[in-house]
Amino acid sequence: MNDSLASLPRKVVSGAMLLLDEAGRLLILKPTYKDGWEIPGGLAEAGESPWQAAHREVLEEVGLDREAGALLSVEWRPPMENVGDGVHFIFDGGLVTAAHATSLRLQASEIAEARFLPPEEACALLPDRLAARVRPALAVRPHGPPVYLEAGHIRGGPGYVGAPEAERAHLDALVTPHGDPFAHFDAWYAAAAAVDPQAQAVNLATADARGRPSSRMVLVRNWSPAGFEVYTDTESRKGLDLTANPFGALCWHWKAPLQRQVRVEGRIERLPETSADAYWQARPRAQLIGRVTSHQSQPVGSREALLGALSVDAALYPGPDRPPRPARWGGYLLIPERFEFWVHDDDRFHRRLEYARTGEGWATRVLQP
Ligand SMILES: Cc1cc2nc3c(=O)[nH]c(=O)nc-3n(C[C@H](O)[C@H](O)[C@H](O)COP(=O)(O)O)c2cc1C
Repeated sequence: MNDSLASLPRKVVSGAMLLLDEAGRLLILKPTYKDGWEIPGGLAEAGESPWQAAHREVLEEVGLDREAGALLSVEWRPPMENVGDGVHFIFDGGLVTAAHATSLRLQASEIAEARFLPPEEACALLPDRLAARVRPALAVRPHGPPVYLEAGHIRGGPGYVGAPEAERAHLDALVTPHGDPFAHFDAWYAAAAAVDPQAQAVNLATADARGRPSSRMVLVRNWSPAGFEVYTDTESRKGLDLTANPFGALCWHWKAPLQRQVRVEGRIERLPETSADAYWQARPRAQLIGRVTSHQSQPVGSREALLGALSVDAALYPGPDRPPRPARWGGYLLIPERFEFWVHDDDRFHRRLEYARTGEGWATRVLQP
């Protein structure tokens, strides 16, 4: 090897996997040789690829023979006291079934304990620098596209954060009024849908006749300049709230790499029966039977009683027969009076842009974080 090649800088490379169980809990490991927790994986040996390292380490550490799936994140880390700068890859490791989870074989010399924890609880136990790499990887699993980070900061991709000036310009653009908040929502939703398979999930808050609030998650699949559509059992708790007090609020939170929140508030009206029918037609038959049987939010004596009623209803509609829509299943339209677009910024000095409906159009204001 000539001298110039021999003096090339050396970087360390690692490969790790996110392994989640059927309850969506992340596998973390407590090593015997250092404090704290980590995810399965480790440094690549000479001539070994990050993907091969992830496979070998997972097999050694917990006895799972896994070929890694999609690449979820790559992070460059600057040198630390005892190790040079390096590039760290996290892959999707797929599902750990209950049978696999109970038969993990921990590498006695290196791993003291393994735990499956809800992702946020798991991240709270990881060292901060590792949690900063794992959180965006969790957000884009199982298929990516991968997130690229440098020293814990996302660079490039949907959560684009470039050089400080580019980062400022990017955030400025994100909260620059679009004139029409629905166009603003469309742009943010497209970014969310690219990285979050659950982008449609949104919290819906309602209040009862006494003004007492309650909230729950729903899916919003359709919206237009008329408003946002929610489909549900109109005799449920939220349905009764809306009969007594026809106002509500939606709140989306799209986690890292986007770290954005959208709030929408307004009057809520029943959608026409034709919309409810179109929604009903578009749902798979199995879901419909459940909706016929279940009187959402009502108490039931036992799960068995409910399953019994479900099989009676299923027998009424054999094969491909679809049950008719019960009158209580329908849609609501939230007609926005106010939108707020919120995006994380450093030092908790987050950005907030409000749109409030005026007679003609929308007035915007910047709000303090
Ligand atoms: C991600 C997610 C999406 C949901 N989507 C809906 C939905 O679109 N419609 C619905 O009626 N319930 C949906 N649910 C169930 C509701 O959260 C809730 O349990 C149900 O609507 C009863 O709420 P209520 O008793 O306050 O009326 C969803 C739950 C989750 C976690």
